[in-house]
Amino acid sequence: MIGDKKVLFSGMQATGNLTLGNYLGALMNWVKLSDEYECFYSVVDMHSITVRQDPAELRARARKLLMLYIAAGLDPEKNCIYFQSHVSGHAELAWILNCFTYMGELSRMTQFKDKSAKHADNINAGLFTYPVLMAADILLYQADVVPVGIDQMQHLELTRDIAQRFNGIYGDVFTVPEPYIGKVGAKIMSLQDPSKKMSKSDENPNASIYLMDDPDTIMRKFKRAVTDSLGAVRYNEEEQPGICNLIDIYVACTGKTREETVAEFDGKGYGDFKTAVGESVVERLRPLQERVADLAKNKDYVDRIIKENAEKAQYASSKTLRKVQKKVGFPEKIR
Ligand code: TRP
Repeated sequence: MIGDKKVLFSGMQATGNLTLGNYLGALMNWVKLSDEYECFYSVVDMHSITVRQDPAELRARARKLLMLYIAAGLDPEKNCIYFQSHVSGHAELAWILNCFTYMGELSRMTQFKDKSAKHADNINAGLFTYPVLMAADILLYQADVVPVGIDQMQHLELTRDIAQRFNGIYGDVFTVPEPYIGKVGAKIMSLQDPSKKMSKSDENPNASIYLMDDPDTIMRKFKRAVTDSLGAVRYNEEEQPGICNLIDIYVACTGKTREETVAEFDGKGYGDFKTAVGESVVERLRPLQERVADLAKNKDYVDRIIKENAEKAQYASSKTLRKVQKKVGFPEKIR
């Protein structure tokens, strides 16, 4: 607890460009939760170097992601929006927690298996202990809740196991965090293969709408979206997964219901429907893109946010870190 509020922690990697799926799925949830909780939203740049990055590109992407957090509606004066690498406690706690995590546990992580298959020439130790750094992120702030996608649930389970193990040895040091899985309707699928999630790492650029795509690109991608040969706009998951996905996108962008959407396009063809969905996305992203452009021009403001929030996060994390260091037996610093 900070004051009378529970603590929320979440983070995103600055690799790849954020998609409409990240926005309607994750970011919109973060914004919704931000009043209720004391929130830490990190740009987890330390996680990104587990796979090889171009330094200039990583730096630029990390800053852009931080601006996107703000542009999406997270008030940086109320929420702690910061770069993971600016707060030394993440690495320090991760080291300690590494000594409380078993090789066997980490070997079972499906993301490790996937990523090591994909980057077979660079299976580094950081890729292996990635979930421990994630546990450190969360436990450092005594987070009560962690909004995550299904793909991160296994890492969150591990975080809970590590916290409970540590608490079992040393007493109640860590809050054991609960996952927060977003409500349905926000899961956006690939435009080219509606059985797959829309992903920022998809190799086919037509599969995803990126948040910074211009209107023409957005309209073109929707025109090419995979549908079916039934020719009717219906919410029929078995036979029309592509159309269902487009309906869900339209619903998320316009605030209409599925039923209203189906009624609105009764008797109309896919061409009209796709145009309407594309336009709803263009309108939805326009203010976001404008805010990012404003922030990009306003360097001093963004710098101030970065500095102040890093200090805030450093301060908030130092209490837990000191407690943990003492518990494991590190000599006290002489001040
Ligand atoms: N591993 C997460 C992902 O790839 C990102 C992440 C890092 C995270 N640390 C976190 C998410 C802490 C939630 C809480 O999506």
